[in-house]
Amino acid sequence: MSDQVDHSRRRLLTAATVGTGAIGAVFAAVPFLASWQPSARAKALGAPVEVDASKLEPGQMLKVAWRGQPVFVVRRSKEVIAQLGNHDALLADPASDDSEQPDYIKAKGAARAINPEYWVGLAVCTHLGCSPLGAFEANNQFQVAGTDLGSGWPGGFYCPCHGSKYDISGRVFKSMPAPKNLAIPSYTFSGDARITIGVDAAPQKT
Ligand code: FES
Repeated sequence: MSDQVDHSRRRLLTAATVGTGAIGAVFAAVPFLASWQPSARAKALGAPVEVDASKLEPGQMLKVAWRGQPVFVVRRSKEVIAQLGNHDALLADPASDDSEQPDYIKAKGAARAINPEYWVGLAVCTHLGCSPLGAFEANNQFQVAGTDLGSGWPGGFYCPCHGSKYDISGRVFKSMPAPKNLAIPSYTFSGDARITIGVDAAPQKT
């Protein structure tokens, strides 16, 4: 009799131990999964950014923040677009072979843009990370911070920290402190002038 009682007690204890173990495992797993999920702040920092560039006039730009970095959106005039390939011999990396951008941007050559009218690129100098200034008018001396950009200036960006110059596609000129062209993030268009930064453009149909 007592032997029977002992067996059933042992079964009860065994079941209780197994049950506790299972519950313990569930409770142990939840904090792990919770800590593995990105926080709302981390999600927001990595989230795509929508930009409405429809109000930009040719020659104007806006700057937005994406992943904690400033990004330029520049509207270029037809005249500027037409001369983009004319100064390749002055550039350090005209084909952007040694620069950062999605493949679908590199494939666009001198324009470095899905739509040549809107140029999108990181506003971060590839020398030491200052934010370059827009100096979009061609052949216009003393445009930025009293700096003579030369009568042959095609229009572009000037970094006042150590004098790096980039063209209006973010391609760096030769013999500058900056070693590479301005980087270009992934982006896509959801309308004529609606740009989503942080999302790759869909492959174009051929
Ligand atoms: S940080 Fe731009 S030239 Fe040095």
